[in-house]
Amino acid sequence: MNSTNTAILGLQWGDEGKGKIVNYLAGNYAAACRYQGGHNAGHTLIVNDNKIILHLLPSSICHTDSLSLIGKGVVISYDALFSEINEISNFTSGISERLKISPACVLIQPYHQLIDLYKEKSNSQKTIGTTLRGIGPAYEDKVARRAIRIVDTLNENKLRSLMEETLDFYNFSLEKFFGKEALSLEKLIEENLAFGERIKPMLADVSMLIRQLNSEGKNVLFEGAQGALLDVDQGTYPYVTSSNCSPAGIASGAGCGPLDVENILGVVKAYVTRVGEGPMPTEIFDDLGKRIAKIGGEVGATTGRPRRCGWFDGVLMKRIIQTNSISGLCLTKIDVLDELEEIKVCKAYDSINEDSIFGECMNLEDAVPVYETLPGWKAPTKNLKNFEKLPKEATDFISYIESICGVPVKIVSTGPDDLSTIVR
Ligand code: GDP
Ligand code: IMO
Ligand code: MG
Repeated sequence: MNSTNTAILGLQWGDEGKGKIVNYLAGNYAAACRYQGGHNAGHTLIVNDNKIILHLLPSSICHTDSLSLIGKGVVISYDALFSEINEISNFTSGISERLKISPACVLIQPYHQLIDLYKEKSNSQKTIGTTLRGIGPAYEDKVARRAIRIVDTLNENKLRSLMEETLDFYNFSLEKFFGKEALSLEKLIEENLAFGERIKPMLADVSMLIRQLNSEGKNVLFEGAQGALLDVDQGTYPYVTSSNCSPAGIASGAGCGPLDVENILGVVKAYVTRVGEGPMPTEIFDDLGKRIAKIGGEVGATTGRPRRCGWFDGVLMKRIIQTNSISGLCLTKIDVLDELEEIKVCKAYDSINEDSIFGECMNLEDAVPVYETLPGWKAPTKNLKNFEKLPKEATDFISYIESICGVPVKIVSTGPDDLSTIVR
């Protein structure tokens, strides 16, 4: 595959198989870079027959010849970062030398995780079904200009004055609004300083590192977390995450220019899934939905929650592809549909004009899908490596997805491991 600066990002509600694709492609790139989200992500890779689930580390981390970068748009929990580094060190060596982290990353503090939990459990607040990782509250602090960034943990005086101000705000919320205990300033300062000491050797100017690699003729792979329909601006608001998972997030989150990303590939599953609350017009409520979930192993990689399943939504995909400069698709998990008699694809909405202003707001509650029903292939595609070996009904399905989405399917995935990948 042509190696230019490339982005791999999900176009649905997450869990499209981004981790597998990034790990598969990473060997062709000098570095891979996470640019948004935090340890709410769960990216699954198979490396040397081991199943590895990454939350914060880029999915290139097992490639010993590549760098793994975490850009300033990512929010970092210090406990999660170091426990993941420890865990993944069982599978690969030299992580601390190959992992470069922006000192501008905002830190997820213990109070963010508590507020996330108390808000989700509260009867008076809307339930989003978050991962309870403190992601939303941490991003709230960033835009409210009171966040503590990694760089602040390197200077005790600066940290103390920031933490005093911020903790005043959070202890007021914890005690007065949620009726919980206040947190200790000294304990937080101690933990943050210890984190600063530990992370210091991994800090780097990630923006300039990308520039430098490019100037040497080397290329970078940008790895999205979540998916475009969970993007805070483009997704099914308010049932979204708190960052820009779409290509718009790359420039701000990695620290490069929008034109530096030359190739943007969207990862889509052959059907859709969703974890947490929020509309999903093509949701399958009967036993078939449960059957697809069982065959596809659709259980959240981060929270272990069951994923809701539905048919491929061509209306939403077409819009997301058109508004995000997506040049091609990686279609994953077609093998999950192997046994089905027929397969549906949503080609329009009955009650909502897909071009209307409602798409701008993603008001999908009343959307009634109109389906094209395609014959199933009822033959195993699992682990197939050649496009020519796919049954005709499967290639017809792929052609239909291409026609409805308006871009080519460049990679087809037929199983969780790297070998089960077809590059066209
Ligand atoms: P991500 O968050 O987009 O990286 O996706 P997840 O790792 O959360 O979920 C994708 C799941 O599907 C993981 O369990 C993968 O191992 C698995 N997977 C990825 N590609 C395929 C595929 O083509 N076929 C099958 N059967 N499983 C796949
Ligand atoms: P990957 O990268 C699927 C969902 C949560 C919830 C909403 C907001 O593995 O695709 P948050 O904790 O981010 O504030 O939760 O977003 N969500 C994901 N769903 N895959 C993910 O990541 C997700 N990360 C967050 O379930 O609905
Ligand atoms: Mg996932």
